Amino acid sequence: MKTQVAIIGAGPSGLLLGQLLTNQGIDNVILERQSGDYVLSRIRAGVLEQGFVDLMHEAGVAERMDAEGQVHDGFEIVVDGRRERIDLKELTGGDAVVVYGQTEVTRDLMQAREKGGGTTIYEASDVVLHNLKSESPFVTFEKNGELCKLACDYIAGCDGFHGVSRKSIPADILKEYERIYPFGWLGVLADTPPVSEELIYAKHERGFALCSLRSSSRSRYYVQVPLTDKVEEWSDERFWSELKARLPSDVAEKLVTGPSIEKSIAPLRSFVAEPMQYGRMFLAGDAAHIVPPTGAKGLNLAASDIHTLYSLLTKVYKEGRTDLIEKYSETCLKRIWKAERFSWWMTTMLHKLDKDAIETKLIEAELDYTLGSHAGRQTIAENYVGLPYDSLM
Ligand code: APR
Ligand code: PHB
Repeated sequence: MKTQVAIIGAGPSGLLLGQLLTNQGIDNVILERQSGDYVLSRIRAGVLEQGFVDLMHEAGVAERMDAEGQVHDGFEIVVDGRRERIDLKELTGGDAVVVYGQTEVTRDLMQAREKGGGTTIYEASDVVLHNLKSESPFVTFEKNGELCKLACDYIAGCDGFHGVSRKSIPADILKEYERIYPFGWLGVLADTPPVSEELIYAKHERGFALCSLRSSSRSRYYVQVPLTDKVEEWSDERFWSELKARLPSDVAEKLVTGPSIEKSIAPLRSFVAEPMQYGRMFLAGDAAHIVPPTGAKGLNLAASDIHTLYSLLTKVYKEGRTDLIEKYSETCLKRIWKAERFSWWMTTMLHKLDKDAIETKLIEAELDYTLGSHAGRQTIAENYVGLPYDSLM
């Protein structure tokens, strides 16, 4: 089998890249370890920056997102009961975010690929990347017990944090930066009307809480929990009562509870791998970096990598600009580190941390200062709506 670009992973990164390349007439094949249904069963975040929305338009898959996604002009930060609204539109001169679940983004991309006849090989096991430094790399994998070979010009490693692509970079070249936070987020999805039209991020002495949503009838809530907690220890009743305890009383009173339709604990991690290119292989999305979810940046950072990789591959195929290949990693990493900083900062400011007395006070003062200052709120807003994409030049 032969293609121009072999894409490893059918998450949002791989599917979005595939769609953009197909529209440019650049042939691509996606290899995915899981089944399509499994990929669609994963519940992830749902706050899209304008850059992401624009890419979905460019990919020609924006119809349902435009119809069902909700534009959010602001969100709230609550500190020990005090409510502060971050007016994104006013603070950024007109920008906003769109609330539309990642699962729906993935579904739309999968359907578009199916309709356009793009090849996706699901349940491909033992994917191995070969000859990355040569002009003819290839990928081997097993499908239905048969060993297959996919020859290609380039490989896009879109296979998430546990994928094989990053591990194909020799250890003496790859540098990994990592922090694992000593707590997780317990998330609940429920078919109940959201408690607020806008997202609420709450800092409380019992721990952080987040009120988010998927639609006017579906809510997504989170509470900070110790990493040692097991999801079985959290009945729905216990979750709702803990969430209410961390919200201002007027919000808690309005909260409509109901049976959870999904409940899980996710660890929080900051992670960056450098470089993001090795020979003819490029890493994109979670394969190269993870942010804690507090800034809603995970999916959006994947999109900015894809934007860069898409413009790079388009220039390679249409203009012969192979000189740009070396710029990929540096271009992506500049924006990634700024999003890592914002996500770490939001996490540090809003969670209950096991810090000494002086650091706890300093963090309280930093948050109080930032929320009380126009410049401070502007800094939060411009990072939340998304920093501009860097160009490859
Ligand atoms: N071979 C083939 N496919 C693989 C392999 C492998 N060895 N390892 C992992 N995969 C697949 C996974 O099954 C998954 O479907 O790669 C896909 C990676 O998808 P995601 O983990 O969703 O990563 P990505 O597409 O980069 O999505 C961006 O940012 O913060 C997050 O929640 C956000 O998941 C989103 C991510
Ligand atoms: C979500 O809706 O799942 C969500 C929203 C905002 C975040 C994280 C998660 O910061």
